[in-house]
Amino acid sequence: MTSKRRLFVTTALPYANGPFHIGHIMEYIQADTWVRYQRMQGNEVHFVGADDAHGAPIMIAAEKAGKTPQQFVADIAAGRAQYFDGFHIRFDNWHNTDGPENHQLAQDIYRALRKNGLIAVRDIEQFFDPVKGMFLPDRYIKGQCPKCGAADQYGDACEVCGAVYSPTELKQPYSALSGATPELRKSEHYFFQLSSPRCAQFLRDWTAGVNARGVPRLQTEVLNKVREWLATDDSGSGGLADWDISRDAPYFGIEIPDAPGKYFYVWLDAPIGYLASLKNHFDKGQAAQHWHLPSRTTQSFDEFVADPAVEQVHFIGKDIVYFHTLFWPATLHFSGRKTPSQINVHGFVTVGGEKMSKSRGTGISPLKYLDLGLNPEWLRYYLAAKLTARVEDVDFTPEDFVARVNADLIGKYVNIASRAAKFISQFFDGRLGYAAPTTDLYDAARALADDVAAAYEGREYARALRDIMAHADRINTAFDAAQPWVLAKDDARRAELQDVCSRALAGFWLLSVMLCPVLPALTTRVARELFGLERDFVWSDATELPQHVAPYRHLMQRIDPKQLDKLFEPDATAPTADAQAMTSPAAGPASSSDFISIDDFAKIDLRVARIAHAEAVAGSTKLLRLTLDVGETTADGVPRLRNVFSGIASAYRPEDLVGKLTVMVANLAPRKMKFGLSEGMVLAASSADEQAEPGLYLLEPHTGAKPGMRVR
Ligand code: 2FM
Ligand code: ZN
Repeated sequence: MTSKRRLFVTTALPYANGPFHIGHIMEYIQADTWVRYQRMQGNEVHFVGADDAHGAPIMIAAEKAGKTPQQFVADIAAGRAQYFDGFHIRFDNWHNTDGPENHQLAQDIYRALRKNGLIAVRDIEQFFDPVKGMFLPDRYIKGQCPKCGAADQYGDACEVCGAVYSPTELKQPYSALSGATPELRKSEHYFFQLSSPRCAQFLRDWTAGVNARGVPRLQTEVLNKVREWLATDDSGSGGLADWDISRDAPYFGIEIPDAPGKYFYVWLDAPIGYLASLKNHFDKGQAAQHWHLPSRTTQSFDEFVADPAVEQVHFIGKDIVYFHTLFWPATLHFSGRKTPSQINVHGFVTVGGEKMSKSRGTGISPLKYLDLGLNPEWLRYYLAAKLTARVEDVDFTPEDFVARVNADLIGKYVNIASRAAKFISQFFDGRLGYAAPTTDLYDAARALADDVAAAYEGREYARALRDIMAHADRINTAFDAAQPWVLAKDDARRAELQDVCSRALAGFWLLSVMLCPVLPALTTRVARELFGLERDFVWSDATELPQHVAPYRHLMQRIDPKQLDKLFEPDATAPTADAQAMTSPAAGPASSSDFISIDDFAKIDLRVARIAHAEAVAGSTKLLRLTLDVGETTADGVPRLRNVFSGIASAYRPEDLVGKLTVMVANLAPRKMKFGLSEGMVLAASSADEQAEPGLYLLEPHTGAKPGMRVR
């Protein structure tokens, strides 16, 4: 028997400036499933997370909300438990990166890096907002694109033509915070010298290496990307630049020792927050308690992280690979700490093939999912059935979701128990009995459980669930072939009936053990209520045979596709009294297909839009490219503009449209066109017979309407 593994597992620390979206939930489900599998194997796991509290966007959002950043973060943190409880995500500890542990650890780590000769101080020039009295992050500087002249573009890239540049290249720059014209100012910044040869050498070796178990630390596709980042040309240039780890006050962050007015850039202290949450967990005494460790093995945080046997495993999304595969291991290594054993990168969640977007109303709201009473384990199952060890996006399609869950979980899995248990209760008082020999059952269980275990270990959940469902198919086929309903009619064939049903239930037991990491609540009921176990399943139960079964009680509902429709309905504001009056019977044959209901109408999100920019589209005589302001901001509080292609070039010159208000459909699914993504539609009037009566007229609201106002 191999000795028990000691694992420290994390998920990326979410910024404390908004609720969780489905992408967060998928990552937590992926990691939680892995952790549950490890625990079933008897391994010691400490699974921790935290809110990522620092940085300019949170500081600014807090100010807007009239709160201190600490209060703002605490309010966000208070909303986290409902997601974890709701989706059966069981962190051992949840902390935040502004806790005392993180201040201490970040400063200690910085001092160690400095002692190691890897911190440099240099002057840099940056835009400063004289009204706000602060240096502006690139995202908060806007202006005219230096390439195409589009108005209102961000300081780092143009959303209209796609050009990438530095904020100092913008024409007529202004601060997105105050509107003031920013000034270039010099300031001292602190750098982690990642360009030094020893860092480059370390990272080349580390990223390509294997961990203590002989498993590569990075997935192949991740390593390929990392190699590009690390590559230098013949002259030795290219590769990593030094990393600017300081920000000037005012900043919500951790003070840099011996550098008054300087704070760590949020990405320096964020991953250190993994250790801080672990330390907080150990210091609270939970770590030892949780594992009922005898006092002689009760360790402190420092002892635990120094133990060479401890494996440190991070689950992250593909957007933050750079920080986790380069900055983070270098930070740990050069401050004299152990480096991660494995960085597990996943893709994004797409919905019906489209990247989701909160502001456009696509995507799935996890809380709405729970509020609608949809079963959290349906989602766990569906996502797991699509997750592999590769960095691929996972697509959520409503029809596929319904079909998959109903066919697999109800049709194949639950079905076995409901059919077989009935006979055992009716004829055998719950006793299972196998006609000898059962070696075939044991052999099959051992082989399958080993395969599925390897799949969970390697995060190949899709493969694990395919193998499990293939076995469910075999069990159902054998059960049907034996025709137990025929056997039940014949008193002389009782032993045969008992054997057939017992084998089916032994199969159900095995399936339940293997599904436990994905369906923790359901399989807990199976273990305790159906099989009378006084504990949850452990992995070694896979090669046991059950001896008793309680009368079957309903285990899981099928999904009604109507429930799912509700999930995708946009949250319309309540209809006005006038609008409701229109649905009264006086309005005529309301059931006729000539009419739509007020609910149908409410699905269309019509908004007042300001045309911030308009231009001809090269290669099209019909289209104009419009940049629209519909009063939206990004999660960072930065104004967000929409790009819309409109077939109005025959009727309008671009320069006549700039600054005008119109009406747009804001929740139209974004459409990829030859010229780029179109994120909505503007409304225009034209005759039913455009040949006889040409003319195209954009709608324009009366004076006083503002961008973002709802049209209804
Ligand atoms: O991208 C993000 O949401 C970051 N808050 C992730 C940080 S992960 C870790 F470094 F803390
Ligand atoms: Zn541009």
